[in-house]
Parts: sequence; structure tokens; C-alpha cells
Amino acid sequence: MHQLTCVHCGAHYRPDEIIYQCPRCGHLLAVDYDLDSLAIDRREWQKRPLSVWRYREILPVRGTPVTLQEGGTPLYHLTTLGRELGIRELYAKHEGMNPSGSFKDRGMTVGVSMALELGKRTVACASTGNTSASLAVYAAKAGIHAVVLLPSGKVALGKVAQALIHGANAISIRGNFDRALEMVHELCTTHGLYLLNSINPYRLEGQKTIGFEVIDQLGGTPDRIVLPVGNAGNISAIHKGLRELRALGMIENLPRMTGIQAEGSQPIVNAIKRGLSEVVPEQHPETVATAIRIGTPVNAEKALVAIRETGGTAEAVSDAEILAMQQDLARKEGIGVEPASAASLAGVKKLVALGVIDPDERVVCVVTGHLLKDPETVVRQCKPPIEIDADMPSLCSVLRL
Ligand code: F0G
Repeated sequence: MHQLTCVHCGAHYRPDEIIYQCPRCGHLLAVDYDLDSLAIDRREWQKRPLSVWRYREILPVRGTPVTLQEGGTPLYHLTTLGRELGIRELYAKHEGMNPSGSFKDRGMTVGVSMALELGKRTVACASTGNTSASLAVYAAKAGIHAVVLLPSGKVALGKVAQALIHGANAISIRGNFDRALEMVHELCTTHGLYLLNSINPYRLEGQKTIGFEVIDQLGGTPDRIVLPVGNAGNISAIHKGLRELRALGMIENLPRMTGIQAEGSQPIVNAIKRGLSEVVPEQHPETVATAIRIGTPVNAEKALVAIRETGGTAEAVSDAEILAMQQDLARKEGIGVEPASAASLAGVKKLVALGVIDPDERVVCVVTGHLLKDPETVVRQCKPPIEIDADMPSLCSVLRL
């Protein structure tokens, strides 16, 4: 069994209470298991397919989950980029290979399953795109309704297409993501829709399995996990999961949790660098990496602990660095990711240059979303195909043959 626990005041709540913050103090909630009472056999885990549900004993869902076989994503050894950056053991966990093309599917298979267990028939979220795409997919699979609030004009085309084709009620807000989240939170509290943003602790339970899979795939713990940070849910989720593995005696040390943000949208980086206990919201976040264009990260409280407790760090990269790394990953490693995802590797490059990451470290970057999520940014960066007449001389001439 599990319960909900406030990360600030420690108050406990029943697992079927529909709350997104501590009713007593307003801080974030986490799902808490009695780990000692769980019968977990690691060899049994190894026999199951690599996926979110391999780890079902430390997930909150009791019945049959709503699943599209999420997780089990590839962990690639980046030999060319690693050589260039001087890191022998550099890996990318390609979360773009999930059913809807981002890591959000891990959260939604759990979140939508919990919605059904709690008797909810309408789910909702605000989103910079991927959360809405994933919610639309899992609501469709579950046969329930999804309402998604999007910041107008700031969601990549592929993500909008997904929300639409999977049948979500998509609403564009003339405002940014932070405002959309405030609105959907209020809507869910006042009208009984089930909120599936990462403030919902059940959703983060699914996302923690990224860390579990990395350890199973590597056969050990990396020294560092680097990921792009927006609302700061994913970094918090992975950290929580790894703490649980440590409490279960399966690993000894935690990797240094390292968050990368875009320069125009870096409240977590500022808080870490200035040693603040809370983030100062960024009123007008801006970046080409629209997935992480977020000024008020709701999970900041958890993320700051994740970074500080593990001796990790946070760093910001420019849009130019993000786009250059997106192209490097595509051309030197054959890995296609959206801009936000390239931020993790751009961050590694910067942190190696600054001497913060040691070349001997074993570093895993989480690349969070697929290239095809945001085709427009790619087309803006690359030269278009060369158009010629449909004859062989023209072809040979353009190829200088
Ligand atoms: N990378 C991608 C591709 C994302 O879509 C997001 C978040 C992040 C990184 C950051 O993760 O919020 O857990 O720190 N996208 C959310 C959305 C906000 O609405 O799709 P985080």
C-alpha cells in the first residue's frame, strides 16, 4: 500500500484523496510506499520486459493499467560525441522512442490508470505540447475525455497534431504555459476534472522508471544523470525513484542530478547558482525550446532537493547551443530529438568546458522528445532540398557528376 505525504510538513493522506497539494500547508505531495513490506525480487524484474511496468511493485496502480507499452527505450552509447567532448562513457536515453514520442507517456500510463481507479472520466492538463499529446493518447486508449490548455502560438506543430487527432478538447490560451497551468489547476479543483500535470504525484511515479531502466541497462549506477528542466517534474521523479532503489538496498550511491535550462527561461539555474531556497519566477520565459519555456516550475521544491542532495548542478545554455547540439546529435549519432532534448547534451558540453563534469564520469543524458515533434524548427535551420528539372543531366549537374 501507499499513501500521499507532504514533502514539506510530512502530513499523510489517504491514497484515494483527490488532492494536488497538501491541504494543510499547500506544499507538494509525494507517493510514499512502505518499502520494507514490499516483496521485490530483482531477478523477477529482470525476467520481465524492460518497461514502466517491470517495476509495478513500486508503482501505485493496483488494477490492470492503461498501457501502450511505454518505456523500454534505447540507451545509446554516444561514441562520436563522447570522443569530441572527451567523455568515454556518454550515453543518451532516447525517450522520444515512447508511444507518443516523449517521456510523458511513462507518467500518463500511470496517471490515466489512476484516474480510472479514482473513478474519473475527464482528465486535463496545461502543456507546452508533449503532456497534451500524451494525455490525448492515453485518454483515447482508456475511452475517457481529455481537456488540454495550450499557450497560443508556442506549441510545436507535431504536438498540436497529436492532441487533435487523438481527440482531446484542445484550447489555446492567449497567455503562457504558467498561466495555462494556473487556470487548469483551478478548473480541476472547482469542476472535478482530474489534473494530470506533474504536480499530480501519481504521474511522477511513472516517470521515475527512467532511472530504473538506466540502471538495468547499464548494469550499474551512472555518476551523473543530465536532463532538460521545465516544470522540474522529471528530475524530481527520477531522483525519488533512485532514492527508493537505495532504500531497497539495490544501489549504493545516487547519480548527481543535473538540470539544464534555456538561458531565456532559467529560474532553477538561478536558484541553484545563488543558493536560494525558492525559485524566483521568470515572468517572460523565452526560448526556441518551447517544451521548456516555463517561468514558474511547479516542482521546484522537489528539484532543488534532488540537485543539492546528490551534489549535482544546474546550468543554462543558449538557443544557439541547443540548436547546434540538436544538429550534432542528428548528424554524428543518428539520433533525432526536439530542441529541449538537445539541451541536456548542450549542457554536458558546457559543463565539461567549465571543468564541472570530469571526463572520467559515466554520464547519462535523458533526451526527452522525438525530432518529429517540432519539424518547423528543423526546416527553419536546414537548407531546403534543391529543386531541379526531372531529367538526368540536371541531376548529374547538381551532384557535380
Ligand atoms: N523535455 C521535453 C521534450 C518536454 O516536453 C518537457 C516538458 C521537458 C523536457 C521538461 O520536463 O517539465 O518535467 O521539467 N514538457 C511539459 C509539457 C511542460 O507540457 O509537455 P519537466
